[in-house]
Amino acid sequence: MAPPSLNDFRNFAVTKGHGAKGISDLRLDALPDQYIQPPEERIDVTKVLDKESIPVIDISNLDDPVVADRIAEAAEKWGFFQIVNHGVPVEVLENVKVAARRFFELPVEEKIKYTQENSPSKAVRLTTSFIPKADKVLEWKDYLSLFYVSDDESSKYWPAACKNEAMEFMNKSEFVIKWLLKVLMQRLNVEDLDSKESLLMGSRRINLNYYPICPNPELAIGVGRHSDVSTFTFLLQDHIGGLYVRKLETDFWIQVPPIPGSIVINVGDALEIFSNGKYKSAEHRVAANGNNNRISVPIFVNPSPGEIIGPLPEVLENGEKPIYKHVLYSDYVKHFYRKSHDGKLTVDFAKV
Ligand code: OGA
Ligand code: NI
Repeated sequence: MAPPSLNDFRNFAVTKGHGAKGISDLRLDALPDQYIQPPEERIDVTKVLDKESIPVIDISNLDDPVVADRIAEAAEKWGFFQIVNHGVPVEVLENVKVAARRFFELPVEEKIKYTQENSPSKAVRLTTSFIPKADKVLEWKDYLSLFYVSDDESSKYWPAACKNEAMEFMNKSEFVIKWLLKVLMQRLNVEDLDSKESLLMGSRRINLNYYPICPNPELAIGVGRHSDVSTFTFLLQDHIGGLYVRKLETDFWIQVPPIPGSIVINVGDALEIFSNGKYKSAEHRVAANGNNNRISVPIFVNPSPGEIIGPLPEVLENGEKPIYKHVLYSDYVKHFYRKSHDGKLTVDFAKV
């Protein structure tokens, strides 16, 4: 296909389905204007704290109350932590990264079958940037988003290049996901998880994120500042790095260093709301990289779309005033997908 004319990069990436990867593959000398972020959205190295890091928690002993304490503390103080010795086999992690790469390296004619316009299922969607229609400046990222409906639907509609590996990653992570939720809920005095399963973790979405090599990475952003709308996110990143978390209540950012075999856990907005602000969904973003492609694979552990989310009664038992109101989770998610990434503003939708 002919390379795009100078002003046609948006069309080439978004409408024609080449994505940021298609632009990356052109090996341009300079980043197209459509991707140049305003200075305040670029990573400012003077705002990065090199000496601080989010907790890394060894969970090999699931019955150790000290482990549970560390998890709850990390969710309160940082909204972000890494877990190691979590029991998800390393081959499963390696395989899903390989599969993600395989998918994004497919020819554009294959990948375009999964864009919003062409995908045979609403649950499968390939996008570049975040919401290209809303994003004034495009984000330097392509992603395949897979909403889990059932095993049958996954095997029918998810791309063959990655479906088995993505399913395996979800299945093999299920045990530790449930355990994490149990620990986080115990600290809120919520014991009866079975009756709350649909509310707290009734749906799953898995994304395959691809951040291609970027000309002028310092002018671009891989993913802009946002918090996730999940209950929590279970994220696998590869060895490249570039994920930054905002230190709560400051203007400073901290890198999340890749640790082989680890999983990054971050509190999402729904859990912040359930806990009436005790657990914090921290803002995060991803830098673009000038030398390497990067892969990450988040599993978003979400409420069922039809549930009404709000502070849990157990949390308010002591007379605490609710700072969030009750909203339909699918309305909350719709609100998130109506606008470009804007830091922590999504949660205002549910503020009292
Ligand atoms: C996300 C996200 C981080 C990463 O997909 O919501 O924040 O490291 N990803 O890719
Ligand atoms: Ni995120």
